[in-house]
Amino acid sequence: MTPILRAIACAGAGLWLTLAPALAGDAPQQSARSAAEIMDILMWNREPVGGPFALTDQAGHERTDKEFRGRLMLVYFGFTYCPDVCPTDLQAIGLALDKLGRDGDQVQPIFITVDPERDTAAHLADYVPMFHPRLIGLTGSADAIRKVADAYKVYYARVPQDAGDYTVDHTAYIYLMDRDGNYLGFFPPGTSADRMVEIIRPRLVAPGR
Ligand code: NI
Repeated sequence: MTPILRAIACAGAGLWLTLAPALAGDAPQQSARSAAEIMDILMWNREPVGGPFALTDQAGHERTDKEFRGRLMLVYFGFTYCPDVCPTDLQAIGLALDKLGRDGDQVQPIFITVDPERDTAAHLADYVPMFHPRLIGLTGSADAIRKVADAYKVYYARVPQDAGDYTVDHTAYIYLMDRDGNYLGFFPPGTSADRMVEIIRPRLVAPGR
């Protein structure tokens, strides 16, 4: 599979039990730019990656990027109904944090949904603890999600399925941000926990414990 297909492989087969309600107003449900354009930007560092956000976590509390200053952030965009790529990558993130041990506290894992309509805070509360106790799941309005996805150069788009159902195509990079919230780089989908540890550990204070 080409890297491009691999990166947007999250829209797989899946039967959702709940049907999507009618779209609220004309809220944007996808990236303004194409997947190819966004991947080109990311690959060649053509534009800054990341930026401020104010979203709602799985407990219903507002969280902003600013509270994570002083920690590295591992930021991942996906959706909870994703059948394959999202759970695999989230498992790798959780495992990497475990492997980092106590030093892993310096890393904040964050999952931001690209399907805010279905991924409510309550729904995220059932989902994120499956991967790591410290994983924060974030949702928000369609506008807020599109803004943060655009800032992180994430491509996502709804793909209609039978009976009014839909899935979401999306790029699945794992972003590593520094203690000031600046972009360091990305891990491609399918990166192993060991590889993440190898890259992250030298950036921790007092590494190697
Ligand atoms: Ni996915």
